Amino acid sequence: MKALEIKKDIFWVGGIDWDLRNFHGYLTQRGSTYNSYLIKDEKLVLVDTVKYYLFDEMLERIKKIADPSKIDYVVCNHVEMDHSGSLPRIMEICPEATVVTSPNGEKGLKFHYDTSGWDIKVVNTGDSLNIGKRDLSFVLTQMVHWPDSMATYVPRDRLLIPNDAFGQHIASEERFDDEIGWDIVRSEAAKYYANIVLPYGNQVQRALEAVAGLDVDMIAPSHGLIWRRNIDKILELYGKWSANESVDKAVIVYDTMWGSTGKIAYSLQEAFEEKGIVSRIENLRTCHISDIMTHVLDSRYICVGSPTLNNGMLPTVGSFLTYLKGLSPRNRKAMAFGSYGWGGQSIPGINEVLSSCGFEMMESLKVQYVPRKERLDEIKEKVKGELTERV
Ligand code: FEO
Repeated sequence: MKALEIKKDIFWVGGIDWDLRNFHGYLTQRGSTYNSYLIKDEKLVLVDTVKYYLFDEMLERIKKIADPSKIDYVVCNHVEMDHSGSLPRIMEICPEATVVTSPNGEKGLKFHYDTSGWDIKVVNTGDSLNIGKRDLSFVLTQMVHWPDSMATYVPRDRLLIPNDAFGQHIASEERFDDEIGWDIVRSEAAKYYANIVLPYGNQVQRALEAVAGLDVDMIAPSHGLIWRRNIDKILELYGKWSANESVDKAVIVYDTMWGSTGKIAYSLQEAFEEKGIVSRIENLRTCHISDIMTHVLDSRYICVGSPTLNNGMLPTVGSFLTYLKGLSPRNRKAMAFGSYGWGGQSIPGINEVLSSCGFEMMESLKVQYVPRKERLDEIKEKVKGELTERV
């Protein structure tokens, strides 16, 4: 259980969740970390804690650097329990410490824990706290992604500790982005954004504006790798994602009963392919909705298909649509499709949800029972025609 010095006298003392595979519905195939940072100055400061079951791991790391009972300040950048879960136990060890948090952080902590014995210092954007040679300054990043979210900035070390923003769910021995391939860090940062941060584009843009004014050469988020090489790249990606920028790419999401809706999905894929638009087929029986969202993040086209079952859509499709709508991607074109026997309610049902997401709707496609090759060819040509009109 080593601590790692990431800057002179600033240490990573977090916990590694190697076993984590599901983070409230988000498939975390690579596990995750909860990153805590210990700043050793005239005052001893712990920034964020870890999930409750990794408390001992964090404590052991802190003990390698300092006596935890001597901690003067515990900064709580975010109340969600993957970062505050060990706060009550650390406060038992250093009961004289002051908890530093945002106004909503104070409210949130009181909802979660018995804070009656805690000294809580509330900070706002622009406030700073002298800890000796260093000042810590604070930037509220409200709704990125909770009301209490804030970032801690250490100007002397050009270090930004923004909590969830810029995070990735990766458990690893490596701590820095340049120690793991860019493709992996990028794709996990994209998945994290698509599944956690996507609904809050406007708030992310405000946070980016605030960060743009800071002199930073290291961004140390609360999950995954610390950014030191690819800071410009991740800031640029956050700019694009928060603006809901998409590329000429289509995601075709479906489930099928007897293969007919699947056949339509493949005809759609051919139509996109023949129009030079990158496309992906995502079968809900084999693909996880959190992985599908990673592809939705930068796709201009979202096509969703289901056969009709019990006067509605398949539950897998309903579940995906609920998730998609909650994550609120914007500026997309969408299409509903599916096969049916007699009622055909799944297609207008999907169309209604996609419309309610604010997407520009393409004409729905429906096929009774099993589509013959001629019908599939007809579908392909029809979609190609529609894409021609739109390109
Ligand atoms: Fe990593 Fe919002 O908690």
